[in-house]
Amino acid sequence: MNVLVIHSSPNLDGLTAACAAAAAAGVRDAGGQAEEVRLNDMQVGMCRACDDGWGTCRREHVCQVLDGFRALHGRVLAADALVLVTPVYWGEMSESAKALTDRLRRCEASRGEQSGLAGKPVICVAAAGGSGGGMITCLLSMERWIQHVRARPFDLIPVNRWSRPYKLTAIRAAGRALAAGAW
Ligand SMILES: Cc1cc2nc3c(=O)[nH]c(=O)nc-3n(C[C@H](O)[C@H](O)[C@H](O)COP(=O)(O)O)c2cc1C
Repeated sequence: MNVLVIHSSPNLDGLTAACAAAAAAGVRDAGGQAEEVRLNDMQVGMCRACDDGWGTCRREHVCQVLDGFRALHGRVLAADALVLVTPVYWGEMSESAKALTDRLRRCEASRGEQSGLAGKPVICVAAAGGSGGGMITCLLSMERWIQHVRARPFDLIPVNRWSRPYKLTAIRAAGRALAAGAW
């Protein structure tokens, strides 16, 4: 089981990074392979709504913007499962997570039932390190994304500064269950 753990905070040692590490550890506990991707190290810009609003994403299911997205898109399709960990910014995903998920959605939702993410289990983690609010609205948009790309919502996990200790345990357990094929 090859699990891509994508996280999107600029902080190397913050809550988001700790959640990603916990998920990856859980995957490895179950004998799976966890590959961590730090979006902030990559060049994945925002969707440019090419042409009349749809570019090659709709017709060919590839993005015509040539940056780091294309390679990452391939890695997402090749993975057996995904873990998406985002810091909560303004009650939403981080800008880098939004850029990636927007572009994935355009390419894959436009394939309908043939989406490369169809049936793929996804764990989403919303890490709110400030006020501790906004986790649910963030997860709501992540759940909608899962629906659009026809993936499988394996788990949606909110975590904030106060819940951190026991949520890290839960995230590790979720990663373990994911890699053990409990779906
Ligand atoms: C632009 C911005 C908006 C933020 N909005 C929220 C928010 O709505 N709720 C919250 O609890 N924290 C918010 N925070 C704090 C982040 O959620 C916090 O930094 C997060 O846990 C990421 O921490 P990390 O980078 O250490 O992983 C915000 C931070 C930034 C930079």
